[in-house]
Amino acid sequence: MFGLDLRSRNPWQYVAMESDDLPTCADIHEESFSPAWTAGTIASLLNSPGMRGLVALRTGKKKRQVHGFILYRVVADEAEVITIATARRARRRGAAKELMLAAIRDCLTDRVVKISLEVDEGNLAARMLYASLGFRKAGERKGYYRSGANPEAQSSTASVSTSKPVNPEPGNALIMVLELTG
Ligand SMILES: CC(C)(COP(=O)(O)OP(=O)(O)OC[C@H]1O[C@@H](n2cnc3c(N)ncnc32)[C@H](O)[C@@H]1OP(=O)(O)O)[C@@H](O)C(=O)NCCC(=O)NCCS
Repeated sequence: MFGLDLRSRNPWQYVAMESDDLPTCADIHEESFSPAWTAGTIASLLNSPGMRGLVALRTGKKKRQVHGFILYRVVADEAEVITIATARRARRRGAAKELMLAAIRDCLTDRVVKISLEVDEGNLAARMLYASLGFRKAGERKGYYRSGANPEAQSSTASVSTSKPVNPEPGNALIMVLELTG
């Protein structure tokens, strides 16, 4: 396989996003990106062809409290991460990495051979996350994100972004790819 250890080791569990999760996902998106997506935007994305959503919950808790989520789209044998975010209160506890691993496991089940995403080159946290999973830079789109954007509140992630560069020196988007073969 491609050398990534897919086992989960932390107290998170990952389940399919449900409609009741949408308001919390919108709250998490709002504290992570600008402009933020509403619950309605996330719902319509989730209902679009090929889209899948997972949320991170703490294991052993009776109450369903969402701490992070990922949206990714699978089309034929390729997938694209549309967005991923962890609630501020839950960061650096492995939730995003485990969300990514859950999505990767799902993609492997469906014989996906390549996962791609876009990330603001100034978003160190996200870049470190993707690098830790074996994603490699495959290209660059100049002027996609705002220059100097706070990585905690960057414009968005992937191709469904509604955001546009808003100043003359917009930041660059890195296109990153994880090959699931070889
Ligand atoms: C990026 C983001 C999703 C990471 O979520 P998280 O749950 O805190 O990440 P994890 O705890 O799973 O971290 C996994 C690895 O990512 C890297 N990482 C995560 N946050 C980091 C940070 N602030 N600085 C440096 N590396 C970081 C580390 O390698 C980390 O492993 P380690 O903790 O063993 O060192 C989160 O910071 C976030 O929601 N940011 C705003 C939204 C965003 O930028 N999304 C990505 C858009 S492309």
